[in-house]
Amino acid sequence: MNRPCDLCDGHGYRVSARGEVAYAQVCECRVACPECKGQRFVLRVEGGYEVAAPCECVTLFERVRLFNLAGVPAGYGEKTVAEFRYGRGEPALGRAKTRFGQYEKKADFDSARGVLLVGPPGVGKTHLVTALVGYTTLQRGIACRFVDFFDLTARIRETYRRDATESELGIIEPLVSVPVLAIDDLGKGRGSNYELTIIDQLITRRYNARRIVVATTNYFPEAHLKQHLDGPARRMGATTEPLEERIGERLFSRLCEMADIIVMEGADRRQMTGARR
Ligand SMILES: Nc1ncnc2c1ncn2[C@@H]1O[C@H](COP(=O)(O)OP(=O)(O)OP(=O)(O)O)[C@@H](O)[C@H]1O
Ligand SMILES: [Mg+2]
Ligand SMILES: [Zn+2]
Ligand SMILES: [Zn+2]
Repeated sequence: MNRPCDLCDGHGYRVSARGEVAYAQVCECRVACPECKGQRFVLRVEGGYEVAAPCECVTLFERVRLFNLAGVPAGYGEKTVAEFRYGRGEPALGRAKTRFGQYEKKADFDSARGVLLVGPPGVGKTHLVTALVGYTTLQRGIACRFVDFFDLTARIRETYRRDATESELGIIEPLVSVPVLAIDDLGKGRGSNYELTIIDQLITRRYNARRIVVATTNYFPEAHLKQHLDGPARRMGATTEPLEERIGERLFSRLCEMADIIVMEGADRRQMTGARR
């Protein structure tokens, strides 16, 4: 049996950083595909005739392309759900991990409920959503987009400039149609009413089309705020403003219709040593 390639462990692709985003490449061991010798098609006999069919390596190129379109931040390109850890006193992290593990096994995302991960810094919220995006694009060939809430509001704001290079529609449409959308850091920066309305429309259109949203935030919804501020959350640097106030009641209630809230309480991994993580 052939030993798996040392460079890619047999995955056929490698992930690195290119500027601010994670970037995947088809590994050398597959670029010069042994099946098709780089032709990207193979000849098959069908009904007595030889016909050209796309080689399996084409799928790999397509998955790598999907990953590169997803916009995973540099540094999060190789996160996996399997490597997400939680301690005995952190059942909330366990629940979050289970939920993301289930997403990986879903046949498709149609009508799947989304998740809103709420929690203080460093508990692994971005880790889980980027792991989902990486797995879903590279292993399953399903398109995903990862956007940062603050960047998204800034891009929408840019469209009203006279010399704008992007239109609002150009920003929103791809985010409406993509099968899996991840929005990181809801409420980071205070979006204007106008920006929030556009994002509200985006979410509403996805809701109507039964398309999933996974999101993260440091802001606790009102209903969870008191309990968590009395508990360990305050120590962990949680903010005291309710999420509803940051993103507006309308956007908040839309999200609640399509996503389950998982409050993640646990230790800040950024402050933990490697051994304890
Ligand atoms: N439970 C965990 N198991 C393994 N690694 C973790 C876990 N939580 C966080 N990490 C790692 O710690 C770092 C910080 O995690 P991450 O960025 O996901 O935190 P976050 O919850 O998104 O924080 P913030 O609210 O500041 O955005 C990352 O490198 C991540 O991979
Ligand atoms: Mg984060
Ligand atoms: Zn390889
Ligand atoms: Zn091939």
